[in-house]
Order: sequence, then structure tokens, then C-alpha cells
Amino acid sequence: MSEFNSNTPFHAYYVQRHPDAGEIHGSLQSLSTDRLPAGDVIIQVEWSSLNYKDALAATGNPGVAKTLPHVPGIDAAGRIVETTDSRFHVGQAVIVTGYELGAERWGGWSERIRVPAEWVVPLPEELTLRETMVLGTAGFTAAQCVRDILKFVQPTDGPVAVSGATGGVGCLAVMLLAKLGFEVVASTGKANAAPWLMQLGASAVVDRSALSDDGRKPLLSTRWAAAVDTVGGTTLVNLLKSTRVNGAVTFCGLVAGNQLEMTVFPFILRGVKLLGITSALCPMPDRVQIWKNLAGPWRLDGLEEICQEISLDQVAAQIQKILAGGVQGRTLIRIAR
Ligand SMILES: NC(=O)c1ccc[n+]([C@@H]2O[C@H](COP(=O)([O-])OP(=O)(O)OC[C@H]3O[C@@H](n4cnc5c(N)ncnc54)[C@H](OP(=O)(O)O)[C@@H]3O)[C@@H](O)[C@H]2O)c1
Repeated sequence: MSEFNSNTPFHAYYVQRHPDAGEIHGSLQSLSTDRLPAGDVIIQVEWSSLNYKDALAATGNPGVAKTLPHVPGIDAAGRIVETTDSRFHVGQAVIVTGYELGAERWGGWSERIRVPAEWVVPLPEELTLRETMVLGTAGFTAAQCVRDILKFVQPTDGPVAVSGATGGVGCLAVMLLAKLGFEVVASTGKANAAPWLMQLGASAVVDRSALSDDGRKPLLSTRWAAAVDTVGGTTLVNLLKSTRVNGAVTFCGLVAGNQLEMTVFPFILRGVKLLGITSALCPMPDRVQIWKNLAGPWRLDGLEEICQEISLDQVAAQIQKILAGGVQGRTLIRIAR
């Protein structure tokens, strides 16, 4: 690794409001280290990824990109080039996902990030930096969902539904659940995705419309021992109404809506558990354990089959596609030039 010189400029995907037209626009720009937020550790980023939340940040959604200009990227993997914290050393391979990265502060779509030492996870030995970013926040979140489902439901209890199954969280949840022996029913809006989802481990694939809800019935016939919902809205309502007694439903997303309009009956008559997931604020001991699981007993084969690799200058084209629900699998971003 060449000697780090903080005076050397670096490239980042820089989102700003156009001074005349007022529209928000992102482009690759050369920046200096003194523009980075304060922190203990500077990382030369090698890989990042594209998550739905990144697309919101890249289009200036104020719920994610709190201020402009902004550098998106809730995921980053690379090597430390400078640290004031003695728990880490220069050259060490590390991962940062979540916390305020790519949201309140500048993120991983950048050759260089500076972050608090408390956010940094040493790379587990069994994974490469590249593999951690194929997984990224999506894989980490899917693993949180599976971990929480396992507290209430075992593979012998019955099928598990996964909504938004071709998305990042969804496809990795399908793969993890199948690896752990669950029967997985994948729900998707993509007409041609069934063979791909079956290859990832789904036992059956249903159209997204099969999980919509018209709001009329407080309960539906039970179909699932558990569910991983990544889309929210009426899909989440349907899944809660059709989960068996003492089953569990994790939810993390809102692409189909952020309202939960239903009665309490699934919870008080069937004991269904509704388990909210936050990856960004996952405590560090749990975070390290989840990465250990992903590197060890939950290690997934076939990550290449779900991954499309792009460079930082190709990212703009993918942003609208993911916002429209059109991306299948994970988009890995090669930051090292
Ligand atoms: N709480 C957390 O910590 C956390 C962490 C990670 C992600 N998330 C959230 O989880 C969600 C998924 O994230 P992701 O990165 O996996 O996104 P993604 O890759 O874009 O996947 C989302 C998938 O949802 C489905 N979908 C899209 N629009 C839909 C609609 N209108 N109705 C129903 N389904 C729709 C599509 O799958 P199909 O075509 O297969 O149906 C799409 O591929 C996002 O809302 C994201 O913000 C939250």
C-alpha cells in the first residue's frame, strides 16, 4: 500500500443543489481531505454498494441526506490509512455500514471516508472486502431479520414468506433462510424472476399482488410460520394477518408505504410478533456477531449470481432504476480506480 498523503485529492460522488435551476444533481468530483467530517479513522475505500437508501440520498431526499452537499453510501469497505485510535492500525482491512454513514454525514461513494472509531468493524478473516460489500447493509439487514425470526420460529414450523424478494434485502433473506433449512416462499413484482429466485433457494414464488390487502378483514387464513417483509404498506398488513399462531414477522422497509393500517387482532388473538429492524443503529457487539455469522455458519455461496459490479462513474444510471423497484439483486460499486 502506498504512503498516505492527506493532501492528495480524492474522488467522490458529490450531490449538490444546482445554484441556478435549484435541482439536485450528483457527479464525480475531486475533493480534499479537509472537507471530510471529523473522526478518528481515515479509510481508503475499495468497495461500496447501492442500497435503496443510497438512491434516496443521491436524489437529495431530506429524510436521508440531511444537508447538501452530500456524499451518499451507507456501506464502505477498505483499508485504514490513518488512525488516532490505537485499537486499529494503518493497512487494516475494515468495514463500516450504517450509523450516520451516507446519511447525516458523508458516506462510502468516495475514495476516502473519515469516521468515528466506534463505527469500524474489522474485516472477518473468512470474508474478502469485496464480499462484504456484495452483502452490504442489505445482507446485514437480512441477517438481522433471520436472527430475530429464529428466536420464535424454526424450519420445522412451516414456510417463511419474503416480500420484495428480488431486492437487495429480499434476495439475501431468501438465500439465508434457505441455507438454514427454511421453506421459503418468495414474493415479487417481476414477472420473469421466478427461476432466479428458485435458484437462490426459494421453494415457491408468488406474484406481489397475492400479498396485497384490501383492509376489509381483520384476519386472513394462516399461511406462514414467519415472514421477512422488506416493502411495508399493505404487504406488511397482509403478512401479519396471515401469519400463524406465535409466528414472527420482521420488517425493515417502506418502498410500498410507511403506514400500518390494521387492527390489533393478529397480535392479541394469534400472538404474532412484529419485529422492527434497524441496521443503522445495531449495537456494536450484535454487529460483530452478525458479521461473524455471515463469515462463518451463515456464509453464502453464489454471491456472484446476485451481484452486478459497476464503477463509481456508472452509479448515476442505477439510481432511478432502484427507486423504480427495477434492480434485481445487489449492485456492488468498485471505488478503487
Ligand atoms: N430498517 C433498516 O435498517 C433497513 C436496512 C436495509 C434496507 N431497508 C429498507 O428496506 C427496503 C428494501 O431495501 P433494499 O436495499 O433491498 O431495496 P431494493 O434492492 O430496491 O429492493 C426493494 C424491492 O422491493 C420491491 N418493490 C419495489 N417497489 C415496490 C412496491 N411499490 N410495492 C411492493 N414491492 C416493491 C421490489 O422487489 P420485487 O420486484 O421482487 O417485488 C424491489 O426490488 C427499503 O425500503 C430500504 O430503505 C431498511
